[in-house]
Amino acid sequence: MKENKVLIIDGALRNDGYTKKLVEFFKTHCKSDSVKIFNAAKEKIAFCDGCNFCEENEHCKFTDLNELFKAFEEADVIAFATPVYNGMVSAPLKILIERLQPYYTYFYKNNKKQKIEKRRKAFIIATSGRDGKEALDFIEKQFKYTFSVTNIELLGSVLCNYTDTLPNVENAEKEILSIIERIG
Ligand SMILES: Cc1cc2nc3c(=O)[nH]c(=O)nc-3n(C[C@H](O)[C@H](O)[C@H](O)COP(=O)(O)O)c2cc1C
Repeated sequence: MKENKVLIIDGALRNDGYTKKLVEFFKTHCKSDSVKIFNAAKEKIAFCDGCNFCEENEHCKFTDLNELFKAFEEADVIAFATPVYNGMVSAPLKILIERLQPYYTYFYKNNKKQKIEKRRKAFIIATSGRDGKEALDFIEKQFKYTFSVTNIELLGSVLCNYTDTLPNVENAEKEILSIIERIG
């Protein structure tokens, strides 16, 4: 992973929660020379208001995410981390997903051509108070739409479930290590 540019998009709300723990675990163990973490909750991202500016201009009228979009387009490996909130991704992450709309409009306006030429790899880290498996299926489906227009291959997902009772941290860490190994 040393040569890979890694971007971690962190949708956690708690600074001392399990999502953050796993983000830190991945950051430490991926051993990349270039790791950027984008904390979606901290950034107060503007909502996509469906104005269709991006359809005409190939970029968003808001500039708050310009730096993130640059990192997103340059990354080789992207980890999306989220707590399961009401069976889906956290609100800040959902706001961010909606702001990826310029990639959708470009894709469909240009005969299904990707705006980002580089093929990238991604995986999902999810934490849930209870079983969380059904939620993870749903989250994967949500991300698949996004990945299809942002030139991303989903490598897999890591679930740290039962954080309300018996947190499955060790298993989640093992899965993160196995994803790192697969990326090579
Ligand atoms: C608003 C809210 C909604 C939640 N919804 C779910 C849920 O639908 N399913 C579930 O298993 N746990 C749910 N939980 C529990 C969290 O997923 C769990 O506490 C998780 O560890 C949070 O991530 P964190 O430790 O990084 O903060 C919810 C917690 C909150 C605060």
